[in-house]
Amino acid sequence: MAVVLRIHADANGRHETALVSKRIYLSSPDVGPAEEAAVMNAMRSGWIAPVGPDVDAFEASLAERTGRAHAVALSSGTAALHLGLLGIGVRPGSVVLTSTMTFAATANAIVYAGAEPYFIDSLEENGNIDPELLERAIVELHGRGESIGAIVPVDLLGKAADYTAIDAVASAHQVPVLTDAAESLGAAHRGRPAGSYGAAAAVSFNGNKIMTTSGGGALVTDDPDLAARARYLATQARQPVPHYEHTEIGYNYRLSNILAALGRAQLDRLDEMISRRRRIRDQYRNFFAGVPGVRMFGSVGEDDDNCWLTSIIVDPAVSGWVPAELSAHLAEDDIESRPLWKPMHLQPVFSSARVIDTGVSERLFERGLTLPSGSVLRDPDIDRVIGRIDAFLSTAGA
Ligand SMILES: Cc1ncc(COP(=O)(O)O)c(C=O)c1O
Repeated sequence: MAVVLRIHADANGRHETALVSKRIYLSSPDVGPAEEAAVMNAMRSGWIAPVGPDVDAFEASLAERTGRAHAVALSSGTAALHLGLLGIGVRPGSVVLTSTMTFAATANAIVYAGAEPYFIDSLEENGNIDPELLERAIVELHGRGESIGAIVPVDLLGKAADYTAIDAVASAHQVPVLTDAAESLGAAHRGRPAGSYGAAAAVSFNGNKIMTTSGGGALVTDDPDLAARARYLATQARQPVPHYEHTEIGYNYRLSNILAALGRAQLDRLDEMISRRRRIRDQYRNFFAGVPGVRMFGSVGEDDDNCWLTSIIVDPAVSGWVPAELSAHLAEDDIESRPLWKPMHLQPVFSSARVIDTGVSERLFERGLTLPSGSVLRDPDIDRVIGRIDAFLSTAGA
């Protein structure tokens, strides 16, 4: 276990020292003096509620960054998915087609809207939704007279999905698209930012994301009515009258002004944080170039990937070892690693859901391993991870 000496001042300015283990996490928040100052300024301004100048300014910057006319800052990416689905007209009983390889929040939001998630398997190269399977599912469902409420493609681990193909399928069959861009802020597809595709997109600022508001999210769209409806539903569906008047069920989903201030400071540093993650990706790529049976997951560092998380795919028949063995070896030195998302159609909670399954996502799940990728990690941290992997490889499969 790695050990470091940590020195900090207590409330009276006395210095204390402590020996603590230095755990290397997959993707921990990267915050510093700029974020601290922004939060303090927001606190001192008196805008502590989920309204205020930082919320307004954060929304304006987010809309600009995602190439959208409107952004609605919310308490989570899950809330953004939920309100996005409601906004594009998903209703109880409709079917929503989505990537099976995703975090549960995507599918959960579909269920919150009363709809049925229908899972589509992945492309081998990057785990994103396979547009050909998507079309096959639409044709089958329409052929049976079933109505499809929406398509929700997910930008897996920060890699933008193939929106050229998805948009062509969606418009040919007239199904609205809500993109789950929770993981892909700062990425792009064919020069257009992640989040700019579809009728609307959901972004997440959870603590492990490329940038964070500790917890938070946003719905971005070009449709003023959709944005206004999301804002209204997010504030308990209050009618614009002085007393509390409600004609329908709403939610408490707005982002606090203090967290929006944190988000503004993070957004200013987004490009710097993406560059740092890209450099970490390059270090892993260089290292694994000569390792048999290992490929880097996803694209090779172009714009379509914000490099949120770096993963490898291991072919055990060639490598002589499986990802779980490497993961256990890293864990012994307090280094976190994790399999790719377990596909939704393999989750007990969705065992009765419909799926078009080719076995790709299941294979990626079995063979994938995500490595520490956070922008907060410095070169010595990455050297430690790579050194540990090197030591593992020298004995693995022997
Ligand atoms: C693909 C995906 N969708 C949705 C979410 C939900 O975002 P949040 O945690 O902000 O609710 C996340 C992340 O947590 C995610 O990774």
